[in-house]
Amino acid sequence: MRGKNWYILSQTATSSDVIPKTKDGDSVRREMHTKMKWRIECEMSLSANKKGSSSLTSRERERYIKVPSRAQKNDGAILDFFSTLDPNVSHDLPARFADLKAQIWHKGLLQAWKEVLAELETETERIASLGAKPKVIPRISYEELRAGLSKDVIAKVKQTGVVLVTSAVSKEEALAWKESIRQYIRSNGNLVRGFPSDDPQIYELYNTQAQTLARTHPAILETQRTLLSLWHTSDTSTQINLHTPISYFDRLRIRKPGDTSFTLGPHIDGGSIERWEDPNFRECWNKILEGNSSWREHDSFDASPRVRANQDLYNAANQCSIFRPWQGWTSMSTTKENEGTLRVLPMLSLATAYLILRPFFQPRQSESYSLRFEDWKVDLSNPLFPGSGMGKGQELNESTHPHLKLEKTMTAIPMVEPGDQIYWHCDVVHAVEYQHKGMSDSSVMYIPAVPLTIHNAGYLRDQRIHFEKGLPAP
Ligand SMILES: [Fe+2]
Repeated sequence: MRGKNWYILSQTATSSDVIPKTKDGDSVRREMHTKMKWRIECEMSLSANKKGSSSLTSRERERYIKVPSRAQKNDGAILDFFSTLDPNVSHDLPARFADLKAQIWHKGLLQAWKEVLAELETETERIASLGAKPKVIPRISYEELRAGLSKDVIAKVKQTGVVLVTSAVSKEEALAWKESIRQYIRSNGNLVRGFPSDDPQIYELYNTQAQTLARTHPAILETQRTLLSLWHTSDTSTQINLHTPISYFDRLRIRKPGDTSFTLGPHIDGGSIERWEDPNFRECWNKILEGNSSWREHDSFDASPRVRANQDLYNAANQCSIFRPWQGWTSMSTTKENEGTLRVLPMLSLATAYLILRPFFQPRQSESYSLRFEDWKVDLSNPLFPGSGMGKGQELNESTHPHLKLEKTMTAIPMVEPGDQIYWHCDVVHAVEYQHKGMSDSSVMYIPAVPLTIHNAGYLRDQRIHFEKGLPAP
């Protein structure tokens, strides 16, 4: 670690907070320590080792204590998680996955498939026709958010699964964050890792001072509270606090103009084959898997089945294993379409229904590109779950999920300014643009909106333990 003027809170550049060793730095450090201590101890309401000081009931405390500690995952760069969009990736799945398909299958799914394909025909064309217009992605100012979201805005956010919130953080503050990160990178030289290793565009940095300040920024937390409040519980005994966003340590991106190395094809975070294999995760799709027209009642914002879902059966490097309703980032640059930004499929419930039903069907002729219902058949004979793998992300492309017409439906996030935030629902298909054609950096800090749950509290505990040991988050 270089630089005399830095106070190092932990041991490695990948998981340390570094704060100037000045009078001001000392007070910032104290404030951050106090803030973090409060967040970790109060947000979790855990006090698992402090009997009597927790707001948890004894039953809740018992459940919390039982949340097992996580094993340290393999250190991996972000792209280790993806299969370079090989459409044959899931051919590697063991034969038992054919049994899983047969176990879930019943005839009612055929009618559901027929209806979903019919709806997709209309919806994909609608989105494609709007694609060039910035209004596809709901956009609200922080002031509007504070005043209360209108029914129309809520409906649009829920339909698309994505929202742009502007002006919660001033441009000056966001740009100062970026500058402090650059200073940190310069000060730590070769200790800072990223992808690609010879010229990082995405950094394996989780706890720089700027990231911690951003994660605890009052307006960012208020934005998160509002977005988490769009979720609800169908089971009143669900142990979740949607009013309490917690800190999830994630990376940052400072992508240079011209870069083509950091690109991610269409994918969905938070598990892959687990969506079908884990019985608790599968409960999230009960209405879809009920068959016939029940898929129309699928509720993407019901948190009750999500809190039990295991999204990470194979302890995959880079797999998010907690319940993260909204993935998100906060911009540190002025960035628009084709400047290395995010693209999303602004279609939530319908795309989810299609994704969940897709493994049960195959084209009647393997070389056929027809999307017509009549040209597809039920196929339970093989373990193929298109785009799904064990210990990998859920990937989608024109071959694996042709009815989504991703080539023309993936929609770029419109112009963002430093301090603007984007959030997308955990089931939303998203990608990172192949090429950054802009003239200046395209930079974000990944900051999701994550609520307090018993399982997530266990993650906070482990995240703290790892942080104190100077390790990346578990
Ligand atoms: Fe992602």
